[in-house]
Amino acid sequence: MFCKNWLLILTTLLLVAATLLAGCNDKKPAASKFAVGIVLPTKDEPRWIQDETRFHDMLIAAGYEAEILFSQGSSAKEKENVEALISKGVKVIIICPQDGTAAAAAAEAARKAGIKIISYDRLIRDTEAVDYYVTFDSIAVGAQQAQYLVDNASGTGNPLYLYAGAASDNNAFIFFEGAWGVLQPKIADGTFVIKNSAEAVGLQGKATLTRDEQAKIIGQITTNWDFNTAKNLAEATLTAATAADKGKVYILAPNDGTARAIADAFAADKDVTQYFVSGQDAEKASVQYIIDGKQSMTVFKDVRTLVKDAIAAAVALIEGKAPAARGSYNNGKIDVPAIQSAVVTVDKANVKAALIDSGYYEAGDFTGLP
Ligand code: GAL
Repeated sequence: MFCKNWLLILTTLLLVAATLLAGCNDKKPAASKFAVGIVLPTKDEPRWIQDETRFHDMLIAAGYEAEILFSQGSSAKEKENVEALISKGVKVIIICPQDGTAAAAAAEAARKAGIKIISYDRLIRDTEAVDYYVTFDSIAVGAQQAQYLVDNASGTGNPLYLYAGAASDNNAFIFFEGAWGVLQPKIADGTFVIKNSAEAVGLQGKATLTRDEQAKIIGQITTNWDFNTAKNLAEATLTAATAADKGKVYILAPNDGTARAIADAFAADKDVTQYFVSGQDAEKASVQYIIDGKQSMTVFKDVRTLVKDAIAAAVALIEGKAPAARGSYNNGKIDVPAIQSAVVTVDKANVKAALIDSGYYEAGDFTGLP
């Protein structure tokens, strides 16, 4: 029995690996039902379209059929999606929560029905009903964004503008934590001066922050992962700031969508002579911004790896096995076994090597590639 199961897992894994690695569809097996459902947060942020596309491609390559549902920014819709998948009899749900804490109820409902839950990219918080977490190294994301700003600054008194993701997203805290770890010593030594958060200024002497302290700062600088919120926030910041707070400025923007909105606002200000702005996700529009010199960097998260890890974990869970874990993340209730993958800083200098030569995007998607 034991041997038979192993053989089955091995065969399935080999099939997934072979077809994924081959990356071609011509020899794909006939699509079979894969007892897995996938729930993604929203179609309104390009990041999740990337994930949908990569899931779609890899499932087809592996000969699997699985439903991908979107929650459109609503935890209620997310719960409905999970309930729909429960009633369809899936064995595993891969879910990227819209709101990490609110998603606990959906995860608990799934667990009651005997379904395994894989938290995808964002951690579901404050519940025991999470079996596994597939993620990127989110501390490194924030650290690389901050390091880019540090590497481009010299002297002292450089104006620093901080922005963050949505407070309902656990990742927003981890990204900020990673960035703070790199920026704080450079604020303490006078390289940077924070211009847009009184809470951050009040805490700038502290090398590490509690979650509550992070929440206070994030409350002042959150973009909610939303382009318009980011734009309005940046414009309000610039209206409040004096000409002396501008000139050559440094901007921690949490992801690409918000980076473009914030960059546009800063570029339009006559007192801003030069800006450095971070990003994340290697969205196509931001890759073009980087080529055009309008966004300084992005953090490339190879979604192909995340999707591959999630599918491998789902296969293991269906077979009643524990997916390979390297470490764990505490979700406020339990330590969730996790696998995390590395991220890469991309700017104009390596954009072609990292994103085109690697086969992630096609050269024809962009103009003026270096
Ligand atoms: C985060 C995710 C990022 C970014 C952001 C906005 O949770 O890890 O890659 O896309 O959400 O959707």
